[in-house]
Amino acid sequence: MSTRYEEITTNLQTSPKVWLVTGCAGFIGSNLLESLLQLGQTVVGLDNFATGYQYNLDEVEKNVDPKAWANFTFHEGDIRDLDTCRKALAGVDYVLHQAALGSVPRSLNDPITSNSVNVDGFLNMLVAARDEQVKSFVYAASSSTYGDLEALPKVEDRIGKPLSPYAVTKYVNELYADVFARAYGFGSIGLRYFNVFGKRQDPNGAYAAVIPKWIAAMIKGEDVVVNGDGETSRDFCFIDNVVQANILAALAQPDGVNQVYNVAYNARTSLNELFEYLAKALGNNGIVYDKPPVHADFRAGDVRHSQADISKARDLLGYEPMHNIVQGLEVSMPWYTQFLR
Ligand SMILES: NC(=O)c1ccc[n+]([C@@H]2O[C@H](COP(=O)([O-])OP(=O)(O)OC[C@H]3O[C@@H](n4cnc5c(N)ncnc54)[C@H](O)[C@@H]3O)[C@@H](O)[C@H]2O)c1
Repeated sequence: MSTRYEEITTNLQTSPKVWLVTGCAGFIGSNLLESLLQLGQTVVGLDNFATGYQYNLDEVEKNVDPKAWANFTFHEGDIRDLDTCRKALAGVDYVLHQAALGSVPRSLNDPITSNSVNVDGFLNMLVAARDEQVKSFVYAASSSTYGDLEALPKVEDRIGKPLSPYAVTKYVNELYADVFARAYGFGSIGLRYFNVFGKRQDPNGAYAAVIPKWIAAMIKGEDVVVNGDGETSRDFCFIDNVVQANILAALAQPDGVNQVYNVAYNARTSLNELFEYLAKALGNNGIVYDKPPVHADFRAGDVRHSQADISKARDLLGYEPMHNIVQGLEVSMPWYTQFLR
């Protein structure tokens, strides 16, 4: 029996659609772009290169067939400008809205800019997508919305108090999406991503995510710094699972719309375990790292443990994550070892 994802991707190939991916020069956006082009879709991209890179787009170009690449149109622009959003949305069927300023620490250092991009920019996208009458609007929400709630696993309808400005912005996205459904009948789906990892995730800068940051340090033989005792845990989600969730959400049945979903694997990995997995996966790729990790202070705004219940996405969207953390690292390690030197 074929899965819902196989059915949808087969149908899309027979009857291609027009997609807008905002944040297409970033980590998640560029992976969405690559998969959609490989499925023969027409894709419009919007990005202002705030945290994304031209080299991510160049890499997608190398990975897809030239004919597929010809189906991509790029708009360089800022979602804080309503007119830019309207132009990018013209003639679009499905929207995958990823553009935002990620990172909890970034938002603690500069809450005003995180708010203007993540809230004002989001509202512009909603207004422009509503006016364009797109078929569906899927947006990147975040597991940070669970805030200080300690109960595990996290279930969509129970959240705590936000622990950072970033978490506030992502929760406000959900509130606006909900109001647009009630007030204007405009449907959308929010995907609460849990610690996504995979190729093209930025290893550099103060706000880098733990996996590319540690792999880059290990490849260079530098110290790996663990914030806290290493027993902090996360539900790390491989990028291919996120791509699957986005495509499923865009084509969701009516009862699946106007909802938010956890997008994760439903496993919990401590930072100490992650350190072991990374050293082992690098070893399998010929790189030996034998230094012990260095422990530093806990990071402000971080939640202690995180693990998602993914049954809602399973039941309503047909989400079936194909890679756990070890499998995801195995698939992506050749990329890390090639590009993070
Ligand atoms: N990576 C994760 O683990 C994770 C977890 C939860 C939620 N998210 C959300 O997923 C989305 C994608 O995250 P990512 O990890 O790919 O980050 P990323 O920084 O690699 O990608 C974000 C992209 O958005 C673009 N962008 C930022 N501000 C913009 C603006 N004003 N106008 C146009 N483009 C703009 C950036 O240039 C970048 O290319 C974000 O909304 C993020 O909050 C990510």
